Amino acid sequence: MISIEEVIKEYKSDIKNSLDIDKLENKYLSRKGYISELFKNLKDIPAGKKSVYGQQLNDFKHEIEDYIKQNITQESQSKLEIYPVHPLDIQSNIGGLSPISRLIFKIQDIFEQLGFSVAVGPELESEKYNFDLLNIPESHPARDVWDTIWVQNPAGVKSLLRTHTSPVQIHYMENNKPPIRIIAPGKVYRYEATDSTHETVFHQVEGLFLDDKASIATFKGVINYFFKELFQQDIKMRLRPSYFPFTEPSFEIDIWLQDKWLEIAGAGMVSRKVLENGGITDHNIQGFAFGLGIERLAMILYGIDDIRLIHSADIRFISQLGKIQL
Ligand code: FA5
Repeated sequence: MISIEEVIKEYKSDIKNSLDIDKLENKYLSRKGYISELFKNLKDIPAGKKSVYGQQLNDFKHEIEDYIKQNITQESQSKLEIYPVHPLDIQSNIGGLSPISRLIFKIQDIFEQLGFSVAVGPELESEKYNFDLLNIPESHPARDVWDTIWVQNPAGVKSLLRTHTSPVQIHYMENNKPPIRIIAPGKVYRYEATDSTHETVFHQVEGLFLDDKASIATFKGVINYFFKELFQQDIKMRLRPSYFPFTEPSFEIDIWLQDKWLEIAGAGMVSRKVLENGGITDHNIQGFAFGLGIERLAMILYGIDDIRLIHSADIRFISQLGKIQL
């Protein structure tokens, strides 16, 4: 039978040798440790000495517990020093809206001043809405202008990633009666080689204005107001005669960028055929539509000479743009 004096002696030596706290706890206080062994001895202690022995054992047990309590904090503290807990390593630069999103919001603000509201349409379109209803049948050479990313559709509908935002015109006409004043911002996709002014994925803002008085003069007034508000200065703009199957007459809008004209938008008076395809049969209703290239506008606003930089995800480039106030 092990005596309490022997265990106390061993304990003092363990402390002197700084026995690891976990080991100490295990050795003395666990179910099979010395203290519980010593408590088992109680039954063999003569009756008259039981209470003294019990008291001595309890005192010893509390001494060990106190020691462990004190040293556990010191030990874990020193572990913390070995594995210091750093404050969360989060960069203070937490990011923000992309310059393209900010530009779209700005464009929305300006058109809302003119009574336009914002409409949306799907990026995954059917051939019918992207082409046919816009007066571009399958055999039409104009289809080649919009190099298309086709998407396999198990339902048998010919699907594609919309090549322009113009299909929103048809969706909107089908569901709303004139007068109509909407803009429809969104992503468009083209299967074409990139260069300094062409991307495969870019953004357009479609505009549609239909009522019984809208004319080319109205169109020029709206577009002039828009550019003046956006650039807050006079910019050189020209309307160039063009061709789109869904407008008659059609124009390109060009803006002077540093040393050359940059094509910013396609536009025109909505053709009668397209109005009918959208369910508008009243011949008093007429109007204009346009499709602005957002990255091209960003190039002019921010002085960017290569469109590919905009979606390059290069943080050095993007953070420069983040500082520009619109
Ligand atoms: C269209 O997409 C017509 N839907 C625009 C339109 C709408 C005409 C309503 C008439 C009425 P276009 O393919 O020209 O047209 O594109 C319109 C604008 O998108 C261009 O002026 C240009 O600013 C921009 N754009 C065209 N292709 C690219 C490209 N690959 N990368 C970046 N921007 C482009």
